[in-house]
Amino acid sequence: MSNTFQTPRGTYDILPDEMGKWHDAERIMREVSDLYRYQEIRTPYFELTKVFDREGDSSDMVNKEMYSFRTKEQYGEQSESYTLRPEGTAGTIRAFDQHKMYATNELPVRLYYLGPMFRHERPQKGRQRQFTQYGVEALGIKSPQLDAEVIALGVDIIKAVGIKSVKVAINTLGDDDSRAAYRQALKDYFAPHIDELCEDCHRRYEQNPLRILDCKVDGDNPVVLNAPKLSDYLTPESKAYFDEVLKSLESLGIDYEVDDRLVRGLDYYTDTVFEIISVRPESGKAATVCGGGRYDHFIDYYGGPELSGIGFAFGVERLLTLAVEEGHVFNEDRPLDAYIISLGETGSIPLQVAQELRHAGLTAEVNFVPRSLKSQFKSSDRKGAKYVVIIGETEAAEGKVNLKRPGEKEQITVDRKDLVRTIEGME
Ligand code: HAM
Repeated sequence: MSNTFQTPRGTYDILPDEMGKWHDAERIMREVSDLYRYQEIRTPYFELTKVFDREGDSSDMVNKEMYSFRTKEQYGEQSESYTLRPEGTAGTIRAFDQHKMYATNELPVRLYYLGPMFRHERPQKGRQRQFTQYGVEALGIKSPQLDAEVIALGVDIIKAVGIKSVKVAINTLGDDDSRAAYRQALKDYFAPHIDELCEDCHRRYEQNPLRILDCKVDGDNPVVLNAPKLSDYLTPESKAYFDEVLKSLESLGIDYEVDDRLVRGLDYYTDTVFEIISVRPESGKAATVCGGGRYDHFIDYYGGPELSGIGFAFGVERLLTLAVEEGHVFNEDRPLDAYIISLGETGSIPLQVAQELRHAGLTAEVNFVPRSLKSQFKSSDRKGAKYVVIIGETEAAEGKVNLKRPGEKEQITVDRKDLVRTIEGME
């Protein structure tokens, strides 16, 4: 009979064998964040829908991919619409505003987050419905050097997990005036071609014609490819800002490629946008490991002051896949120091010995199944124990234990109270 209880489509279990690489990658991301003095923030996995569904938002993420649900009217509360967070930026900024972090901290406030996000997308390679993001937001200051700092942090994480075959693609969406001029140019350009575009692009044409350039269906359509370029509509201020970002990146030795078709899939960006992309042909559609950009009109949306911010997020699954493909060896979780074998009536003594080892900082596991010595040794080998501690009835009664290294013939008998010291002496 087949098992009908399975993970929902687009989600997966991370089994213990896989966990070591996750823990190691998480450690690396935290360590690099510490070097840059970005501090962790944890926000709820769900928020009021209106935190994400901001007025006039034209992104697929908001319009098509959100997991939203209404709560029942109970506990004296109205029914409300909530949404599982599809990304980390909105919740982080909501928290920044709610706790008035702009007033109690020196700006910029540098934050990072690490956790699950949820999008109802068509599952495919590198695209899950629950996935993990590591992201940063640097809030409250608009400076081209800060843009470079954020990008440098992303690049350093990529490097720290041993990924080499990536490139930084960067573009500017310009300030409000640049975008208004460009939006009009796009509308004029697409108007006679509207019938050649997909259904979603009809909506995009009305809401935000920039989105058409990022369409997954029409992306390679010549009409889209020949559209006017944003770089021709930049105000001198936006152009100067972008030039300064690029200069700052160069000063840090960060390679980049200006991609004037890069618009990003989310609506809130202004000025700098960037992605870190795998250049391995096998990566295909999962090629974008990291995406981010600056936003001038997000922080005030939740009642905060008119401040600018910049950030990015990595898909951690994509990061891990690339790192493994490139041969990076992650540190595994702690191995087993001592496996405790017991024979006969030893009561709780093996358990006590294990506890003494653990309290001395050694990892220990006890056999609780009455079975032959041979079978217990086999378990110890399978678990890769560095030491085997053997306790029979006589040893238990005399306060002693036998100690040996797997694969070696020699076995010594020591007083139980000397076990930790003896193991440490053998290291
Ligand atoms: P995003 O481009 O939507 O940006 O997502 C960032 C990264 O998350 C993507 O490059 C990808 O690696 C990963 N990702 C997105 N969707 C999926 C999925 N369905 N399955 C697996 N991985 C996925 C944002 O989310 C912005 N909040 C980034 C940002 C932060 N911008 C400013 N601050």
